[in-house]
Amino acid sequence: MRLKSRHLLGLEGVSRQDIELIFNTAVTFKEILSRDIPKVPTLRGLTIANLFYEPSTRTRFSFELAEKRLSADTVSFSTNSSSVQKGETLKDTVQNIEAMKVDMVVIRHQAAGAPHFLARCCNTKVINAGDGAHEHPTQALLDLFTVWEKYKKIDGLRVVIVGDIKYSRVARSDIWGFKTMGAEVAICGPTTLLPYEVERMGVEVYTRLETALEGRDIVIVLRIQAERQQAGLLPTIREYVNRFCLTPRHLAALKENFTIMHPGPINRGVEISPEVADGPYSVILSQVTNGVAIRMAVLYLLSGGRLPNSRRKAKAS
Ligand code: CP
Repeated sequence: MRLKSRHLLGLEGVSRQDIELIFNTAVTFKEILSRDIPKVPTLRGLTIANLFYEPSTRTRFSFELAEKRLSADTVSFSTNSSSVQKGETLKDTVQNIEAMKVDMVVIRHQAAGAPHFLARCCNTKVINAGDGAHEHPTQALLDLFTVWEKYKKIDGLRVVIVGDIKYSRVARSDIWGFKTMGAEVAICGPTTLLPYEVERMGVEVYTRLETALEGRDIVIVLRIQAERQQAGLLPTIREYVNRFCLTPRHLAALKENFTIMHPGPINRGVEISPEVADGPYSVILSQVTNGVAIRMAVLYLLSGGRLPNSRRKAKAS
């Protein structure tokens, strides 16, 4: 019941076996979350620090809830209320937190590779909650889990990721994750928002939305990462909306029983129309719900513990 790595830094290189272990563990925690008292003592005595150097709503709340549901002790900080404002480095901040006997660090940082740096220079276990435009592994795991719950498989599904691929850490983690689990993955966006030599990741590349959608089971729509872009990559937002905003008129091209996903936050009317975001094929809020169970599973597996049910069984026997 352990993952191969002592950290979760990205989905690149994570095995199918480990992803399935996370899914099966998340099923147990999802059942626990549906109980009247959705809390277990699994991580009692463990201390987790949530370091958010970039804004977040879903990921931060989801990790904090997951930690509380598992009875861990938690401390959280954001940069505007910490000594980072006084010039402290990332390494110094984490080594000071570590000196207070923290067992695990969840970090979101604007610099790609920041969690990997911490994993090298500190002793705590590290979970990447999004590093620059690099990876966002728990978002991809909850995306994969949401698809796996609905279709009972991922193998053979045809997935297209639409929008700002170049600056999206979700796109990168989703590509690794869906490919490891046997899906066929395509990407679609304006040429200026497609990464250089992205075909080497084993994806088909489209610049016309209507063509990219043909025969797809899953559409993952991404936000324009305005905070990471240099100026001039898009002529105007209006032109982007005309060519890439997913609207009801696009849906006929998709396979029966298709699924619309978005990691959030949504820019309604920019990358996705409200009718599609709130429509019957959208699983956007289910993704958020599943995020708590997935993060509980990751925290639990990295802690090396046993499932609450098996603990009870072990005591009874
Ligand atoms: N999906 C996601 O990472 O959302 P937040 O930026 O709100 O955490």
